[in-house]
Amino acid sequence: MAESTAPPNGLRPAAPARPAVPISSIAPGSARHQQTGVAELDRVLGGGVVSGSVSLLAGDPGVGKSTLLLEVVHRWALAGRRALYVSGEESGGQIRLRAERTGCSHDEIYLAAESDLQTVLGHIEAVRPTLVVVDSVQTIAAADTDGVAGGVTQVRAVTAALTAAAKAGDVALILVGHVTKDGAIAGPRSLEHLVDVVLHFDGDRNSVLRMVRAVKNRFGATDEVGCFLLRDSGIEGVADPSGLFLEQRSEPVPGTAITVALDGKRPLIGEVQALLANPAGGSPRRAVSGIDHARAAMITAVLDKHAKLPVGAADIYLSTVGGMRLTDPSTDLAVAIALASAYADLPLPATTVVVGEVGLAGDLRPISGMDRRLAEAARLGFTTALTPPGAPATVGGLHTVSAANIVAALHHLVDIADHGAGLRPPPRLLDRS
Ligand SMILES: Nc1ncnc2c1ncn2[C@@H]1O[C@H](COP(=O)(O)OP(=O)(O)O)[C@@H](O)[C@H]1O
Ligand SMILES: [Mg+2]
Repeated sequence: MAESTAPPNGLRPAAPARPAVPISSIAPGSARHQQTGVAELDRVLGGGVVSGSVSLLAGDPGVGKSTLLLEVVHRWALAGRRALYVSGEESGGQIRLRAERTGCSHDEIYLAAESDLQTVLGHIEAVRPTLVVVDSVQTIAAADTDGVAGGVTQVRAVTAALTAAAKAGDVALILVGHVTKDGAIAGPRSLEHLVDVVLHFDGDRNSVLRMVRAVKNRFGATDEVGCFLLRDSGIEGVADPSGLFLEQRSEPVPGTAITVALDGKRPLIGEVQALLANPAGGSPRRAVSGIDHARAAMITAVLDKHAKLPVGAADIYLSTVGGMRLTDPSTDLAVAIALASAYADLPLPATTVVVGEVGLAGDLRPISGMDRRLAEAARLGFTTALTPPGAPATVGGLHTVSAANIVAALHHLVDIADHGAGLRPPPRLLDRS
């Protein structure tokens, strides 16, 4: 008996209004990126915002989302385009005040302090902007939807309606989403699949540095990072962030190692600092900031076991400079060298960078993006790189010294330190104020 093709439960296929067609018969759609004018943001977006698309900018309260997006609408307006800034959080007067403080006033920026969804849609129709910012999606309420503003149901309904309006009006829409400790799941996370682009905005509260990263981008890659400095006078892009994470000093000091981290595909110079002290009694103290605790403990054990360097008995303080997070394994060797340098009271010349992963057997392992990292170090004037095997012998004016294991690396440390004693840091890095 022939098998019936009828699906169970009486579900019947409907005749499609538009039949599926071979992919080759479809003209490729191209995303038209429009530069916002904020270069560091455009870099992350893959060239700019796309008309008819929705981007979500998520971040902690106070990180600078409103400041950044006011700068965006300002640049938009400066290029002769009309922008609408909808705020459900602040009054028009407050936004005006921020605009004056940060130098972002412009006639073509339209402001609406509004929290009702339908009225917001009305504003979009009335103003006919090409860019709309809604700050924040959690403060806009859809009257015909259950739940409180900011709840998952509401936030989804608001996003869906605004998305439809953006597509219909060919408007680039940017939504702000607050991430809070307890609301992290209910908030922006629940929207990520509804929008085209998701950007995360973060930074340390005690530092002026801010980073924007794309975690989803339907129109580009997600491996770029945008760097900003947030000040009272506004937000400012940093095209060349190298050196932000270094201590400014003219002579090398023991217990420090400079490394090149890779954030997406952007190389960032960072510094690891180590201090060893005699324990006051009991078990030795460990204070680690900006570096992965577990990796730090592992590296301490490797130094103890394979290099016979008894750092583990001391109080260990490890930290990065400028709130930088150096948590990936490519930082291992820099942590090891900083600890050894502190232990031996032997400063590494400030012209040396250290990159590489340390294995439990004391072996040094190659890392991703080595060429890119060394090229950045060479560009900045570093002359020596301590690396695992396999790195190119020279990159520009930079020579690599490779070591197969931690013991060989420590021998090199002694060599480099002896020969480079008193060498000053690359002038390129001292220029920075
Ligand atoms: N009136 C002000 N004067 C100086 N700095 C301010 C003022 N208002 C806000 N800031 C600074 O700007 C930062 C970013 O604020 P904002 O852009 O509103 O953050 P978000 O929108 O992410 O909550 C604040 O954390 C604060 O440090
Ligand atoms: Mg805000």
